[in-house]
Amino acid sequence: MEEKSEIVKIKTSRINKNNLLSSKFELRNVMIEIARKFGTPIYLLYEDEILKSCSLFIEVLNKNFGSRAMPLYACKALSCKYLCKLLEKQGFGLDVSSGGELFTSEMSKFPMRRVMFHGNNKTKDEIEYAIDLGVYRIVVDNLFELKNIMSISEQKKKNVDILVRIKPDVDAFTHKSIKTGGKGSKFGMSFDELIDVIDEIKKSSYVKLKGLHAHIGSQIFDLKSFEELSEIMIGFYINLIKKFDLQLEDLNLGGGFGVRYLNEGEEFNLKKCISNVSYIIKKRCKEYGIEIPFMYFEPGRSIVAKAGVTLYTVGCVKKNEENIQVIVDGSMNDNPRFALYGARYLIENISKRNVNVDRRVVCVSGRCCESGDIISPDCLIKDPEVGDVLAVYCTGAYNFSMSSNYNKFRKPPVVLVKGDGTCGEIVRRQTYDDMISCEV
Ligand SMILES: Cc1ncc(COP(=O)(O)O)c(C=O)c1O
Repeated sequence: MEEKSEIVKIKTSRINKNNLLSSKFELRNVMIEIARKFGTPIYLLYEDEILKSCSLFIEVLNKNFGSRAMPLYACKALSCKYLCKLLEKQGFGLDVSSGGELFTSEMSKFPMRRVMFHGNNKTKDEIEYAIDLGVYRIVVDNLFELKNIMSISEQKKKNVDILVRIKPDVDAFTHKSIKTGGKGSKFGMSFDELIDVIDEIKKSSYVKLKGLHAHIGSQIFDLKSFEELSEIMIGFYINLIKKFDLQLEDLNLGGGFGVRYLNEGEEFNLKKCISNVSYIIKKRCKEYGIEIPFMYFEPGRSIVAKAGVTLYTVGCVKKNEENIQVIVDGSMNDNPRFALYGARYLIENISKRNVNVDRRVVCVSGRCCESGDIISPDCLIKDPEVGDVLAVYCTGAYNFSMSSNYNKFRKPPVVLVKGDGTCGEIVRRQTYDDMISCEV
């Protein structure tokens, strides 16, 4: 039996009596009000946007696989207790990839029967923790880890069901830093290595292989990459059942569904993607007379990216010979994605509502002691002045979760904005005390 989740509650205050999202103008007013009330920098998270992405995912999986599929939200995109509870209610499971993400899910009372534990170098402590909690599956990355899982399960006399992460050798069309499925990847093992690993698994009376996992990267738009992945993985899955007489149940094809940060081009076609994947899986299973596996997908970015907006206040404007530097009260600490891989964002000066204000190409930079501390090197915004509030759109994924305390700047809060016009902190702003709380 699954545990009943607690009712999701946060302390909210009404920001605006009218429907928050009824017009763009109002939306900007609300953002300014929130900036005033909670201060900047601040991450906003629009709950309705998350619910919309969740229901699309659930609908598409239901349509193609009925009750034989589950989306596992990839917590690395943004992990906090409130979100875990919200996702549980939407019928999602979780993909956690560290002890910290596992702890967050435990603290949110997330049912462990819906949690898969990932990671390419899990520590023995993390493995013990996952086994004690009874996570549904551990996704094994390599032989060394498998041996640790085998000895820990032996000591504890506890059954552990595993998937094995495979390098499918699919070269997804995306930035090299977020490709994960190639032969040289640090994640997972080749199918040939898995064959050796199977002998090892057979030695254990507690560890059982239940299926396969692969994840080819993030921010992928090309449907062909997912189709290629499906062909390869269902091929491996069938091979293991037919040639090695294994009783497998699960096939997990990871996440990676692209998001348009600049509203350029068509949105990722999730319906078509999953329908094509399902066609391939069903066709192969029918050909070989095997039952369709229980399917898992692990969307992260596509669930939360568009729900997020970061607000900053302009602290100074430097009109250099070469450029105009607009320096805000945030930094690469709260959004390292331009510094990491040149990620681009739409930015708006929401303090300037007048259509007649001139626009300028400016470099929006942060407060860190690094010249690479840039949010956007060349965005076109209405003439920014000190005190203006800038909104950076599409920052729900891999922003808060990648934030750091470099220069000992405090991490911003996450404020949830609900569809009914209320909002409240789901993560409070860090204090200086928080920052030195581990120091002796
Ligand atoms: C194993 C695994 N699953 C899922 C994801 C989520 O990917 P995305 O946020 O692109 O959907 C990642 C991200 O890198 C991952 O490593």
